[in-house]
Amino acid sequence: MNEPIKKIAVLTSGGDAPGMNAAIRAVVRACTYYRVECVGVYRGYQGLIEGDFEALSGRNVSNIINKGGTILKSARSEEFKTTEGRKKAYENLKKEGVGALVIIGGDGTFTGGLKFIHEFNFPVIGIPGTIDNDIYGTDRTIGYDTALNTVVEVIDKIRDTASSHNRLFFIEVMGRDAGFIALNSGIGAGAEEILIPEKNLGLERLVESLKASKEKGKTSSIVVVSEGDKIGKNVFELGDHIKEIFPDYDIRVSVLGHMQRGGSPSCRDRVLASRLGVAAVEHLLDRTSGVMVGITNNQVTTVGLNKAIKMNHDIDQELLKVAEITSV
Ligand code: F6P
Repeated sequence: MNEPIKKIAVLTSGGDAPGMNAAIRAVVRACTYYRVECVGVYRGYQGLIEGDFEALSGRNVSNIINKGGTILKSARSEEFKTTEGRKKAYENLKKEGVGALVIIGGDGTFTGGLKFIHEFNFPVIGIPGTIDNDIYGTDRTIGYDTALNTVVEVIDKIRDTASSHNRLFFIEVMGRDAGFIALNSGIGAGAEEILIPEKNLGLERLVESLKASKEKGKTSSIVVVSEGDKIGKNVFELGDHIKEIFPDYDIRVSVLGHMQRGGSPSCRDRVLASRLGVAAVEHLLDRTSGVMVGITNNQVTTVGLNKAIKMNHDIDQELLKVAEITSV
């Protein structure tokens, strides 16, 4: 940790998220600005193990701030979960003369990073990049805002057809273990019901709510379901179950899937990614390691990687109330 850092490596790992390219660009350009070399690692930790590196200078990252996905590609590496895999990765970094690593991803990425730090005492800083927003220590993760805008745009379109045909739509959105996308897009798109893993509403409550909507004369409804919802049924089974209870309902199911992860990042995500990319390099050059850079009350902050992955980023109770009140 005491040698001066002359070269920083950057990688993206886990599910891609819009804005990852803006973060890569900021890391590379901050390295140029502070006169350290930068190297991109392809395919996340797998590329680290295979030595799939490319030197990056400021000009290599021109015209990527607006692009979705990640130019460095991403992967979920099984080999990096083994001690041998991580040892190969460390040896490759040493051979390349890399003194510190920036990892952009979610909880799986940070878990791998933590092990790496503990085993090799190698400086690592995390940047939260996931559409799920399920990371503690940051108000927002890179990609979340863009995904929300994508989902709201699609639900608006579904609402047109739902109301034209008096239909009930169940729309499944991403969020493996977290309901942030469902709750916020549901409020933004005016959904009648929102089902999230953090709050098990149970089938009965959903049925009661649909009955109430019917009595109030609603002719079409949108129910947003987080993929991690714990109501006990997948979204298709849920649709079938509700059909049994309301045989006269015309029910349709839409699973939005990976379209939510694509597309050009929103301005909010680009600015967030740029700020966090610069901060990551500055913290590494200041000899900080083992933390994630995040945004709290619009200030760049840091939190231990161990906390970022272990602590819950709580669902805002006020949002739950707003969802309930605005769907009466
Ligand atoms: O973690 C981001 C995420 O998009 C989750 O919302 C989703 O459950 C998962 O990745 C899907 O992963 P994959 O692309 O490997 O199918």
